[in-house]
Amino acid sequence: MTGAATTQTFRTAIVPAAGLGTRFLPATKAVPKELLPVVDTPGIELVAAEAAAAGAERLVIVTSPGKDAVVRYFEEQPELEQNLEAKGKTDLLEKVRRGSGLLAVETAIQEQALGLGHAVAQAEPNLRPDDEAVAVLLPDDLVLPTGVLERMSAVRAQYGGSVLCAFDIPKAEISPYGVFDVTGTDDEDVKRVHGMVEKPKPEDAPSTYAAAGRYLLDRAIFDALKRITPGSGGELQLTDAVALLISEGHPVHVVVHRGGRHDLGNPGGFLRAAVDFALETPEYGPSLRAWLTERIGTERP
Ligand code: G1P
Repeated sequence: MTGAATTQTFRTAIVPAAGLGTRFLPATKAVPKELLPVVDTPGIELVAAEAAAAGAERLVIVTSPGKDAVVRYFEEQPELEQNLEAKGKTDLLEKVRRGSGLLAVETAIQEQALGLGHAVAQAEPNLRPDDEAVAVLLPDDLVLPTGVLERMSAVRAQYGGSVLCAFDIPKAEISPYGVFDVTGTDDEDVKRVHGMVEKPKPEDAPSTYAAAGRYLLDRAIFDALKRITPGSGGELQLTDAVALLISEGHPVHVVVHRGGRHDLGNPGGFLRAAVDFALETPEYGPSLRAWLTERIGTERP
C-alpha cells in the first residue's frame, strides 16, 4: 500500500491560474501561460498529474475571464481521438487522452486580480461537505521529484492542521517568497511553524525555509481568508491567512523538500524546465545534449 492510500487527507485540489502572465508577453496575449508546453505537455497538466497521483479526485482551476482555454484543455476531444484511432496513432492518442482522464476538472472565476489568497477563496463554493482539507498547487512551481503531497498528507494525519511544502534556500534569495518561522521535530524534514511572513527582506526573514507552491490546508483557511486585509503588494495573501490561523493556535507544519524545483513563472525558469525535461526523453535528449554541448562552446559570430 502506498503512503497516499494509508494517509489520504484530501480529495480536492485547487490550482490558481488567473494571472495575466505578463512576464510571458507577447505570447500570453493569446495563450495562457499555464498552457505553454514543457517539451510537449502544458505545465498545468504536469501539476494536475501530480495532484491526481497524490489522490486528488477533483481539480478546481481558478481562472480569470478570458482564460477558459485552460479548463478546455482538460475536456475530451472525440473527433481528434477518433481521427488518431483510425490512423493507428496510439502513442498520440494516449497523450491526448491523458489530461482529460486524470481527474474531474471544475472552474472557479476570479474576476479581479486581488492576490493569491483571494484566488484560493474563490474555490470555496466548489467544495464538498466532506472536504475537510484541500491541496493547493501553484502551477508556476514544479517540485521534483513529485511525491511531496503524499508526505504532507501523512504529516496532517499525524499532527492535524495544515501542512505546507518548504525549500531551504539561501537567505539572499529569500525575498520573493513566503517564509516560515520554525522549530524542529523528531523528523529532520518536518518542522513546526510558529509564524509566516510574505516576501520579507533578507534581514527580516525568520528562517531560510520558503513556501514552495504546495499547500495542504485545513478547511478553516476559508474562514481565515475572509478575515485578512491586504498585505504584501496590496494583495490578499494566502501567507497572511496561514499566519492568522497559526496565531489562533491552528497547528501548521512544513515538509522540507530536498529535491529540485523549477519556476515556470518566467521565461528563464521555464526554459530550464523545458531543457531539463527534454534531456530526459529518449526522443530529444541525446541530440539536445550534443547540440547544447557544442553550442555552449561556440561564440556566435
Ligand atoms: C507565491 C506565494 C509565496 C510563495 C511563492 C512560491 O508568491 O505568495 O508565499 O513562496 O508563491 O512560488 P508569488 O510567486 O505568487 O509572488
